[in-house]
Amino acid sequence: MTQQTVLVAGASGYLGRYVVTEFSKRGYRVRALVRNPEKITTGGPNLEPAVADVADEIVTGDATEPRTLKDVCRGVDLVFSCMGLTRPQGNVTSEEVDHKGNKALLDDALLHGVKRFVYVSVYNAGKMMDVEAVTLAFETLGKKPWITHIPMWVGDAALFIAGFVSKPLAAIMSFAISVNRTDTVAPATGNMHLADFYRELAEQQDRPKH
Ligand SMILES: NC(=O)c1ccc[n+]([C@@H]2O[C@H](COP(=O)([O-])OP(=O)(O)OC[C@H]3O[C@@H](n4cnc5c(N)ncnc54)[C@H](OP(=O)(O)O)[C@@H]3O)[C@@H](O)[C@H]2O)c1
Repeated sequence: MTQQTVLVAGASGYLGRYVVTEFSKRGYRVRALVRNPEKITTGGPNLEPAVADVADEIVTGDATEPRTLKDVCRGVDLVFSCMGLTRPQGNVTSEEVDHKGNKALLDDALLHGVKRFVYVSVYNAGKMMDVEAVTLAFETLGKKPWITHIPMWVGDAALFIAGFVSKPLAAIMSFAISVNRTDTVAPATGNMHLADFYRELAEQQDRPKH
């Protein structure tokens, strides 16, 4: 069977690095799309791996400049996009990155006859209330959970004010507020546990740096 090629967009991010690693393990030829190739030569801040040597090819592009994504899907069988705005980036909005950037990628995939396009979104977006995960993280560290509950109306009021101050800030606040309204914990599958991950993270941070 001929080797399949996958384009991983957002390959420098938390999810993207694991996706690159997994596709490579499964025998795919991996083309990693990043903004800054330097970034993937080292591991990420949350234990995620360096993938510069795992990817077979590294291409650069920026979602806010769709022309830079032209032809990134040439010769690709599958696109896996975890390209998204998860933290403030100057005046850039989610509309530009998540929507227009991924739409540009999708258009390029269609142009080049890509057969499958996987886009990572948020499970039950608008419903996330991650108190359980926060509690577990504290417990794993042997600390008493310290969680402050802020009434949703405070967030709504802050969002209203942010709308006058900064549109990008308001967009991110709007996302954060909407994902805090409901429980979005997905059905449990697999055999890896969040508590083990927190433990590993804590151990890594305690290790002396050389
Ligand atoms: N992590 C989770 O548990 C989780 C859960 C549900 C959904 N998601 C969704 O999955 C996606 C990825 O999440 P993540 O946790 O991996 O986030 P992340 O670590 O912030 O990764 C985001 C990726 O998108 C890239 N990106 C951001 N702006 C870009 C731009 N203008 N042009 C090109 N690339 C750009 C980032 O590149 P740089 O490295 O250059 O910034 C990075 O590679 C997000 O849409 C998120 O909402 C994540």
